[in-house]
Amino acid sequence: MKKVILLNGSPRAGGNTEILCRACAEAIEKNGCEAEIISFRGKSFRSCIACNKCKENPGECAIKEDGLNEIIEKIKKAEGLIVASPVYFGTARGDMMSAIQRIAMVSYGGDRFLSGMVGGPIAVGRRGGHTATIQELLMFYFINDMIVAGSDYWNIAFGKLPGEVEEDSEGLAVIAKFGGNVANIINKLN
Ligand SMILES: Cc1cc2nc3c(=O)[nH]c(=O)nc-3n(C[C@H](O)[C@H](O)[C@H](O)COP(=O)(O)O)c2cc1C
Repeated sequence: MKKVILLNGSPRAGGNTEILCRACAEAIEKNGCEAEIISFRGKSFRSCIACNKCKENPGECAIKEDGLNEIIEKIKKAEGLIVASPVYFGTARGDMMSAIQRIAMVSYGGDRFLSGMVGGPIAVGRRGGHTATIQELLMFYFINDMIVAGSDYWNIAFGKLPGEVEEDSEGLAVIAKFGGNVANIINKLN
């Protein structure tokens, strides 16, 4: 079965990003693909240090101690990649940007494993900065030759305290539709 990896960029257990990732994963599975959510909780990702070692040793990042290489290995075996982040000061959480920039660099330095993967971003916040966050995360998709799925609205949802996003039924429906579309595109392509 084709697989979609969902990166949950929140540090919080039971948080709103996690709830959205679960709704998205459920829709992916209903539409015939496997889904795996990888949480950033308890992890810390440094930014790319521009060492270019991923060109000398293609397929892996020289920063080995934070577990990103294990995530990269999972991404390489999947057909889809979704990145979900809480909005922090109007943009994506820093660890998410650090992680995807390093993932992109490793893909560039090697066999471009991101090329042709299907997915898209998800953003959740209390009140503002969601669309800027989506736009910021989209930069990762388009430069990496990836295929972005749509929905009935942008992939944004509202909530502050963990669990509050459950009250945003429109947001949850948009994310579920997006997840279904990701799975459908993957199945049509393969
Ligand atoms: C450092 C920090 C900055 C935040 N900045 C914003 C913001 O700019 N806009 C917003 O709508 N919410 C902001 N929030 C609220 C979170 O986006 C919101 O609580 C979100 O639901 C957190 O997702 P999580 O439960 O998955 O961690 C911020 C929260 C933190 C901790």
